Amino acid sequence: MNTIKRLGTPLSHTATKVMLLGSGELGKEVIISLQRLGVEVIAVDRYENAPGHQVAHRAHVIDMTDGTALAKLIELEQPDLVVPEIEAIATPMLVELENAGKVRVIPTARAAWLTMNREGIRRLAAETLSLPTSPYRFADSLDELKAACAEIGFPCIIKPVMSSSGKGQSKIDSAAEVEEAWNYAAAGGRVNSGRVIVEGFIDFDYEITQLTVRAIGKNGEVETHFCDPIGHVQVQGDYVESWQPQIMHSKALERSRDIAKKVTDDLGGLGLFGVELFVKDEMVWFSEVSPRPHDTGMVTMASQVQNEFELHAKAILGLPVNVALKSPAASAVIYGQHDAKAIAFEGVAEALQTPGVDIRLFGKPESFARRRMGVALAVAADTDAARVLAKQAAATVKPVVVK
Ligand SMILES: Nc1ncnc2c1ncn2[C@@H]1O[C@H](COP(=O)(O)OP(=O)(O)OP(=O)(O)O)[C@@H](O)[C@H]1O
Ligand SMILES: [Mg+2]
Repeated sequence: MNTIKRLGTPLSHTATKVMLLGSGELGKEVIISLQRLGVEVIAVDRYENAPGHQVAHRAHVIDMTDGTALAKLIELEQPDLVVPEIEAIATPMLVELENAGKVRVIPTARAAWLTMNREGIRRLAAETLSLPTSPYRFADSLDELKAACAEIGFPCIIKPVMSSSGKGQSKIDSAAEVEEAWNYAAAGGRVNSGRVIVEGFIDFDYEITQLTVRAIGKNGEVETHFCDPIGHVQVQGDYVESWQPQIMHSKALERSRDIAKKVTDDLGGLGLFGVELFVKDEMVWFSEVSPRPHDTGMVTMASQVQNEFELHAKAILGLPVNVALKSPAASAVIYGQHDAKAIAFEGVAEALQTPGVDIRLFGKPESFARRRMGVALAVAADTDAARVLAKQAAATVKPVVVK
């Protein structure tokens, strides 16, 4: 594999340059990890003063779904690595540039392209790799959707093929609700392609994120490392709390890792992946995969020796990684609660009075009621205790509008 052989001095002719496409809270932490290794970082996002912009060497604001604009910026900056942090990117252009040898995309341009569309990754997982998934159909019109739902049965879940964080997603219990779900998906899709996936509802006991790292080992070969499983709770398709380790049946853990290995082997390249899985007793279903740090993995800022951002940064640079757990821990999201620019946060000192608690505020320039603005972290003797502490801390931090 073509890897980085040495690390340079930023802002010089020896610089090792990494461009982040997407510079939210996850990108910000990846950038901080890269900065610690003296990497020159270029942060790109679609709006000014994004969290990652604030800690990078240079910041750019472009429409990352515009392939021409993206190619122009890559040409200008000449990064050694391009690291997608979000799904909404002109990935066909990345595939083209990578094929032309003009750029190395993390983990690969194909992985970024396949995972931005639910159809690409679902067909790969279920049809090519024969991994267990929920039953599914695709539909391009209301009539097709009605037929697809009838085949899948109820309850089922309808999602735009291009969306994330639960946008445009609904669970329905009967044929009478199909039309509403169709309209909701059309409004919530990232690209208004009108295409949706219907998935049979999996009545799982719990769901996990299996963080999986592909990194170069001692012998120069790619090795796969598994972090301890992360349990999480989603509300309307958006993560609200997570904890690590999630205790599992040994058989379910083995199956989870087998699925994670197969899908990450196929996607290839170097870096960290978040493999989302549903678990019921000893059964495991593949749901989806992020070829990058995962929001539920923010808990690793408290729980692991090297958090998921550091693991990603090290792996992509061809450096060894350590996925060891440090302590059971939990994370709880701090929402904006207000629609306003430049909100402020009270209660941080009070939240930090509790031993084991830590707070991260992302520095997003604008708040929305349901926008993730920060996260509370807590370590404790076990994950149940850590969850209580993290939720208490998140509730103690009060977003306020300053007149
Ligand atoms: N087939 C299913 N059966 C049961 N629950 C499901 C199913 N599909 C999705 N969910 C629930 O909805 C959540 C979000 O679904 P999914 O991960 O597909 O959406 P997303 O928009 O990609 O979210 P994110 O970007 O936050 O990962 C899942 O974590 C799970 O809790
Ligand atoms: Mg998901």
